Amino acid sequence: MFAALRNTDRSWGAPAKLLHWVIAALIFNQFVLGWLAVTWRLSPTKIELYVWHKSFGILILTLVLVRIVWRLLNRAPALPPDTPRAERIAAGVSHALLYVLMIVIPLSGWVINSAGGIPFRVFRLFPLPSIAAADKGVEAIAKQVHFALFLVLALVLAVHIAAALRHHFIKRNDVLVRMLPGKGLRP
Ligand code: HEM
Ligand code: HEM
Repeated sequence: MFAALRNTDRSWGAPAKLLHWVIAALIFNQFVLGWLAVTWRLSPTKIELYVWHKSFGILILTLVLVRIVWRLLNRAPALPPDTPRAERIAAGVSHALLYVLMIVIPLSGWVINSAGGIPFRVFRLFPLPSIAAADKGVEAIAKQVHFALFLVLALVLAVHIAAALRHHFIKRNDVLVRMLPGKGLRP
């Protein structure tokens, strides 16, 4: 039963797929919530948007850590044998970069929150510990870093999604299909 959940040489197991798509949805949601929170006029709604943005951000950080542990315990499916070396390297580098960004973006958000000295409860359930001393200068830098890293993520994701579509529609291999839900596990 446990073995059936693992990745095979040709496809991703259910936990890897679930984590990929849940985190992907949460990240797109973060872009919207972050943008709305920053641009909304000062009101209870703005505070509410921040509560959800920060809470989902901490949830993403937690899920990514689980995902990385699962990934280290599982081999990734192999790329099609005809994949050129440069493309293999590009895939490896961009995936590693996505993992790094999924860690450092929420961490920089956490620094904004800590340096701003704003008490905050994750999903209004438990207090988020402080990871930086209250300091307006650090808060301002962390905001710039958070925004710059978001731009990098958006750029890498555009390439990531284009590459997935290229595999499916141009190269016509199963790289996209094997990440989709419900396609089962082929040996
Ligand atoms: C993967 C997770 C995250 C993503 C993709 C993300 C993305 C964003 C985006 C797109 C913005 C709007 C930027 C702007 O227009 O200036 C933003 C703003 C913000 N985010 Fe996040 N965020 C994440 C996690 C977090 C976390 C965990 C926290 C805090 C615990 C946080 C705190 C903030 C704050 C305080 C702002 C407002 C910054 C400002 O006023 O310039 N974010 N975020
Ligand atoms: C419409 C959106 C997306 C599509 C179509 C897509 C597609 C895919 C596909 C097909 C793979 C498997 C590649 C392979 O088997 O070699 C993959 C892997 C991956 N995706 Fe996405 N993805 C999307 C969104 C995202 C988002 C938002 C993130 C996170 C920021 C993300 C992060 C990753 C990572 C890190 C891997 C590598 C998995 C590993 O090697 O452990 N993806 N994606």
